[in-house]
Amino acid sequence: MAFLCRSAAMLLKPCSRAPAAMSALSAARLYSSGGQYEYILVDKRGEKNNVGFIQLNRPKALNALCDGLMTELGRALDSFEADADVGAIVITGSDRAFAAGADIKEMQNRTFQECYGGNFLAHWNRVSTVRKPVIAAVNGFALGGGCELAMMCDIIYAGEKAQFGQPEILLGTIPGAGGTQRLTRAVGKSLAMEMVLTGDKVNAHEAKQSGLVSKVYPVDQLVSEAVKCGEKIAANSKLVSSMAKEAVNAAFELTLAEGNRLEKRLFHSTFATDDRKEGMTAFVEKRKADFQDN
Ligand code: HXC
Repeated sequence: MAFLCRSAAMLLKPCSRAPAAMSALSAARLYSSGGQYEYILVDKRGEKNNVGFIQLNRPKALNALCDGLMTELGRALDSFEADADVGAIVITGSDRAFAAGADIKEMQNRTFQECYGGNFLAHWNRVSTVRKPVIAAVNGFALGGGCELAMMCDIIYAGEKAQFGQPEILLGTIPGAGGTQRLTRAVGKSLAMEMVLTGDKVNAHEAKQSGLVSKVYPVDQLVSEAVKCGEKIAANSKLVSSMAKEAVNAAFELTLAEGNRLEKRLFHSTFATDDRKEGMTAFVEKRKADFQDN
């Protein structure tokens, strides 16, 4: 099932005059009516069609993350969240660029009053609030907001030629979508400081070594490997996967004692599910579990 969508200019204004975020209801309507997107390609992948697939598609601008693109991305994520068949989501770009950052041309003339008053880029947070697991498959440049977008995902796979960086300092600004926070947690203070203060990029292998990405693949295998990972995740209980994701994410926000307490409660909660019963019964009966997301 493919929702290849480049012809809906009437539904979405251009990046420079992007609309306010749509309601989840309108998003669901768009998706179910075939989906209409200008800046992304949306599809479902995997043998069971259970991996939501989003490809950023502004090749001429190296997938610079204009407001319209991020609004569409949020809408596609809403649709996959609401789709009971989807158990994981992959976000990718092109071989040349995952995303070269927020759209500098769009930001160039913004004033402080517009940024602060309008809570500029607040809607980017949608990516980090998705409850289903999200995998970023990064080929090429992941710079500035592009690196931040990848870091909002739960797992990052990189192609061998990927380059990660937070070059905002070279533009006279700083990361604004979690770069200083998530990068520091991922790679530690020294490398994060170096990247944020110099704007220097790191390659895929350095990113792997520092813990920013979990796997590195040849460029042409990256996307299929990310989808395979999505299929593996989608084969598990969606309900329990969301609990697992919530528990891991809590490690970034809570003290160890609070995090362990939350984990224990979520662990206890799995015993209220049919899927926990099925998983353990299947083990004892030496068969593959058949989770019903219940
Ligand atoms: C708008 C961009 C862009 C960006 C590239 N382009 N990055 N447009 N915003 N972030 C456009 C270029 O203007 C050009 O279009 C086309 O993409 C190709 O780019 P080139 O520079 O010609 O390609 P190349 O020489 O291969 O260099 C690639 C590059 C370079 C190293 C990635 O484009 C670059 O440095 N881009 C900016 C990276 C950056 O600073 N990102 C952080 C942005 S700030 P035209 O039509 O001009 O030929 C940010 C803040 C986040 O992300 C804050 C919170 C979200």
